[in-house]
Amino acid sequence: MKVGQDHYRSIWVEGGAVRIIDQTRLPHEFIVVTLDTLGQAATAIRDMWVRGAPLIGATAAYGVAIAMRDDPSDAGLARACATLIKTRPTAVNLRWALEEMARVLGPLAPSARAGAAMARAAEIADEDVAINAAIGDHGLQIIRAIAGRKGGPVRILTHCNAGWLATVDWGTATAPIYKAHQAGIPLHVWVDETRPRNQGAHLTAWEMAGSGISHALIVDNAGGHLMQHKEVDMVIVGTDRTTARGDVCNKIGTYLKALAAHDNGVPFYVALPSPTIDWHLEDGVAGVPIEERSGDEVSFVQGKLPDGTVTRLRISPEATPAANPAFDVTPARLVTGLITERGVAAPGALAGLFPDHPR
Ligand code: MRU
Repeated sequence: MKVGQDHYRSIWVEGGAVRIIDQTRLPHEFIVVTLDTLGQAATAIRDMWVRGAPLIGATAAYGVAIAMRDDPSDAGLARACATLIKTRPTAVNLRWALEEMARVLGPLAPSARAGAAMARAAEIADEDVAINAAIGDHGLQIIRAIAGRKGGPVRILTHCNAGWLATVDWGTATAPIYKAHQAGIPLHVWVDETRPRNQGAHLTAWEMAGSGISHALIVDNAGGHLMQHKEVDMVIVGTDRTTARGDVCNKIGTYLKALAAHDNGVPFYVALPSPTIDWHLEDGVAGVPIEERSGDEVSFVQGKLPDGTVTRLRISPEATPAANPAFDVTPARLVTGLITERGVAAPGALAGLFPDHPR
């Protein structure tokens, strides 16, 4: 996607160096960071310089590639995977990418691993872009159908950031939005702020503004009201892990949006690249590990002061502890459709689109 006049991916290789955008600094500062070591790659994922399930997977793949430059031995490969798998627990793309790197690199002689690792990481990044573009094409058909039934812009609510910043390019939830915008379909996007880390306010809003798409930032609690008053035509969210039966784990608050959508007859779609499917799990509520992050993310907000300084402000009494579960699970029964790179499936019919995947 474009940042100003320049095309960016969220992770790329330049002169052999792996580069990312430090997403903790957006929307106020655009800072590119080079990842030189395995430790830096792990920190980038753990501290959310990069985030979003597909980008976590791609960064982990490049993290293994970086590690192979320093120590391509079997022990080095095992250490790289063991270090990276611990960074964040919920997005299954992390496990998927590390298993894929181990599968490709394991049989090779150590001397061949560094080159092969960089090549496979680049392929994983390119595959992500192609997957998301295909999700965009399938989602576009849904938006086009809604546009055909109603006058005025199609109003889409989204939660968190499942945009190009959360993937290598296009985004998952935003891919149909970008494709529809490019096709000239009038849109309006309701952007949930997504407390506590405000990925909606900081990242999705930045993406929408940068792409010239009509949008408005709303507090997380506004969605139900807007749906009751027929101000939302559809919801599209991303996911960090979707189970074989279609339970959807995504950023905390997604479940409440799904309940509100269900109560108001608003279609609730999930954009879903296949590496985000956990074929080993059925019951998402019981089985998906939910990341518990620092309470400081709840007790503080980050923003820009009138003098331009970016800072954190405490919003609660110092004596008040905070709990911070980062994800929740929306049961499959609340999901209208899963928009994958192979087409749109009812939640229970996901396996039909992927007969080649292990159950
Ligand atoms: O904690 P984050 O910012 O990594 O959470 C991101 C999300 O919940 C996204 O919706 C999800 O990863 C899908 S990204 C295409």
